[in-house]
Amino acid sequence: MIYASNVLAASSETWSHRAGERTLQGRLLGESDLPALIGLHHRVLAALPDGILNAETDEFFAQHVFESGRLLGVETGDGEIVAYAVLGLPTASSSYNFGRDINLPLSELGAVAHLDGIGVDAAWRGHGLQRALSQRRTAIAVAAGRRHMITTVAPNNLHSLSNLLALGFNVVATRPMFAASHIRHLLHLDASKPTVAPAPELQKTDPLARPSLLAAFGPSALSGDAA
Ligand SMILES: CC(C)(COP(=O)(O)OP(=O)(O)OC[C@H]1O[C@@H](n2cnc3c(N)ncnc32)[C@H](O)[C@@H]1OP(=O)(O)O)[C@@H](O)C(=O)NCCC(=O)NCCS
Repeated sequence: MIYASNVLAASSETWSHRAGERTLQGRLLGESDLPALIGLHHRVLAALPDGILNAETDEFFAQHVFESGRLLGVETGDGEIVAYAVLGLPTASSSYNFGRDINLPLSELGAVAHLDGIGVDAAWRGHGLQRALSQRRTAIAVAAGRRHMITTVAPNNLHSLSNLLALGFNVVATRPMFAASHIRHLLHLDASKPTVAPAPELQKTDPLARPSLLAAFGPSALSGDAA
């Protein structure tokens, strides 16, 4: 798997995230975080039916510390990582570039970013961590010059699918993916074209509503407050 190295400073990103009464801390993860992240990945995986979340190798995570993209994590005040998210920044020539799977023109493959695996500890679900981590990965990808956000979701993963649709992603293909040939929707968002936010009541009731991603790309996107 070959990716571009890129310009972002890996260690300078931190932010806070309100989860009920608690405030969690988010940051880019480094090599020393890999055992905790991989442990969380396997705990999340073990509690799910087969085929919902792709099982990643330790090497995949290690490559995403910097070389292949970024790893984002959210932790409690005690330093326990309770959520992780993988951002992939593939090169145009990489065979692992989801742009190929959705038939983007070759000239656009260098502008692709992957919103790859994400997992939230069961005790911390429903606090907007997936949404915030998806917006933050998008903002980091945009800062790295990427425009096409592409992600994969199992068709029956309704929480994840609904979150991504609400963020403005569109389902553009459905096909077997990864080594295990799991059926996946591929979802795409052109981050250079933020859309107009629908009324809040529509966002709440219609999973196909397309709220604005302006918040993700505005000044707050890379500052301290979580979305
Ligand atoms: C899918 C997943 C990442 C969502 O994370 P999350 O941080 O809980 O999601 P958010 O809080 O941003 O989701 C917001 C919405 O989903 C709902 N939700 C998400 N997970 C939920 C759960 N386990 N139980 C109840 N509601 C849940 C929230 O209530 C909220 O809905 P609302 O806005 O209508 O109230 C998380 O459930 C998870 O780790 N699942 C297992 C791994 C997985 O499926 N990864 C995604 C692969 S594509």
